[in-house]
Amino acid sequence: MGHTFTIAHLSDVHLPPPQLPSLRELNAKRLLGVVNWFWRRRPHHTVRTTQLLLADLAAQRPDHVAVTGDLVNLGLESEVVAARHWLSHVGPPEEVSVVPGNHDIYTDPGAGACLAAWSSYMAGSASGAESAGGARFPYVRRLGHVAIVGLNSALPTPPFRAFGEIGHGQRALLATLLDQLEREGAVRVVLIHHPPLPGLAKPDSALRDADQLADVLRRHGAELVLHGHNHRAMSTMLDFPNGRSSVIGVPSASIAVAHGQQTPAAYNLYRIKADRQQPIEMITRRITASADGFEEIGRVALGSQVDA
Ligand SMILES: [Fe+2]
Ligand SMILES: [Fe+2]
Repeated sequence: MGHTFTIAHLSDVHLPPPQLPSLRELNAKRLLGVVNWFWRRRPHHTVRTTQLLLADLAAQRPDHVAVTGDLVNLGLESEVVAARHWLSHVGPPEEVSVVPGNHDIYTDPGAGACLAAWSSYMAGSASGAESAGGARFPYVRRLGHVAIVGLNSALPTPPFRAFGEIGHGQRALLATLLDQLEREGAVRVVLIHHPPLPGLAKPDSALRDADQLADVLRRHGAELVLHGHNHRAMSTMLDFPNGRSSVIGVPSASIAVAHGQQTPAAYNLYRIKADRQQPIEMITRRITASADGFEEIGRVALGSQVDA
């Protein structure tokens, strides 16, 4: 009964585009995205930082890795293919769960390319649904006493907008799944790119149905909700009838040095016991000040925490 399942959580890798958009792929949003990448993002998001993170992650030997979106920048076919290759270095599809971010499902044409290319990393273990050229959401993966529930909050948006939405269909199914998993005694871990609760992101880049999603979580419960998108560490607690959710965001996995509100690369390890009453231990590992490796910077017991 003493088995502990360890999930690592990283996000917002923003891998460099291997090539510029083709004429067929080009539109106003991608043109602005290219400018944004070269002038604002490229200096901060470095491949070396991500390589150091993955080396440290491998040494920690987690049982599973959660990647909460924004693997790429412009949602191009070439990026999505490169990111699929990168994912194979993170681990095999059975050991890595991915949900898409707003930069993965960025704009048309090609908004669904990542869903097809990464579908094995978003496939549910118990789902009978065929993934015909794409993944179905929410997906559920049962991993021993842990259940991962993946949501898709990404949709094509106009220029300068990075909002998300999971919609009524996913919310309704999520409610049913959370109840079912609760009856099965699973520790429920929900993955979503956008911060899932109201007030956690700027209006232009927030989840549009955060109020409704918070309501589902408040009624049906999930032990852990992991997100990205803000490129900094965040932590909020949410009470549900039989317990308390820890809603935790991680910084980008590729930023070596803080700039603006965005903090240096870090990832979290969650040590999850089979007994849901036991707190989940969260260990944070961050890039060192000299940017030559990662080190542990904190260890907390979730579930018994007062709001941070
Ligand atoms: Fe991001
Ligand atoms: Fe994002």
